[in-house]
Amino acid sequence: MDGRAPPGSQAEAPAGAFAAALLEWYDRHARTLPWRVSPADLAAGVRPDPYRVWMSEIMLQQTTVAAVKSYFAAFTERWPTVEALAGANDAAVMGAWAGLGYYARARNLLACARTVANERGGRFPDTASELRTLPGVGEYTSAAIAAIAFDEPVAVVDGNIERIATRIACIETPLPAARKPIRALVQTLTPVKRPGDFAQAMMDLGATICTPRKPACVLCPVTDHCEARRLGRQEEFPVKAAKTAKPARVGAAFVLRRPADGAVWLRRRPALGMLGGMSEPPSTAWNSRADGATGAGAAPVAADWHLAGFVRHGFTHFDLTLEVWAAEASGDPAIEGWWAAPSTLEGEALPTLMRKVLERAEGFQADTAAI
Ligand code: ADE
Repeated sequence: MDGRAPPGSQAEAPAGAFAAALLEWYDRHARTLPWRVSPADLAAGVRPDPYRVWMSEIMLQQTTVAAVKSYFAAFTERWPTVEALAGANDAAVMGAWAGLGYYARARNLLACARTVANERGGRFPDTASELRTLPGVGEYTSAAIAAIAFDEPVAVVDGNIERIATRIACIETPLPAARKPIRALVQTLTPVKRPGDFAQAMMDLGATICTPRKPACVLCPVTDHCEARRLGRQEEFPVKAAKTAKPARVGAAFVLRRPADGAVWLRRRPALGMLGGMSEPPSTAWNSRADGATGAGAAPVAADWHLAGFVRHGFTHFDLTLEVWAAEASGDPAIEGWWAAPSTLEGEALPTLMRKVLERAEGFQADTAAI
């Protein structure tokens, strides 16, 4: 087998040679990853578990392989099947997700598990177009699952693969406009046999050799197929459209602490919207389009508020600066929420931003206690 597609449908000779060279390299150098079936095991007939492939791809959206590994291990140990995850309670899943960021993914993870378990008899659909109908499964993720778990020869295109493609063909059109020609090229290169290994080989190539800066072209298995390399222009790609500055937003967060045991008052954010369903010390109504109120006067309850400092956090579409106000509670506040003791904070569904807020307030309280 030479991995070539029939003429007219997909790859012709040069594309087949590209896939063959890349797969030969992957057979020797594939990264060992917890959700991956090695090329040798795959060749021996081991099938990837679609549940694990799906879980890894959702986690890997906007998050690095290094950060995902421990979360993937924890989730698959605690919820080994899609049915187990579908039966989990929302707060447990949000709590286990805390720290991975982009929390809409966790809500979609649960919604998708419930759809698959309750409406599809526990079986994931096996084509990209059907997978795409599931919550949280977009164009990239549907293609990755279809190729890796079900051998569909569909183009899988993430940021790394975009970079490789623009170099291979010297695509001068800036991103994001280049996405269409990139997809067409990757589809042409994708072999009918081993499309999942091909996609993962492209990911590994992008992570280890065809890196954004100083790509290691001398080690690259497809260097002979690379037009940018031939012209010595590999670092000029991908061409990116000029960035527009992110808006800066402000708001305030209020950390009320119970002196007896150091518990802090938390509440649940509304299910819809930024960090929906996550826990937080009460904060003002900031979002991607509008500032929240600031100042001690914006506090939801009266207390002797002190400014503990500021926390900055970069979201995809804006940068947020939150004032952190701290106070000691003189009783239970008359607002929705609960006391979270220090020993339970780890298990709370607190987004990274709110963990930073608590750390800032705690640092301030420790400082003032020491005075
Ligand atoms: N990034 C996204 N999906 C991946 C995968 N399956 N292997 C390695 N890196 C990835």
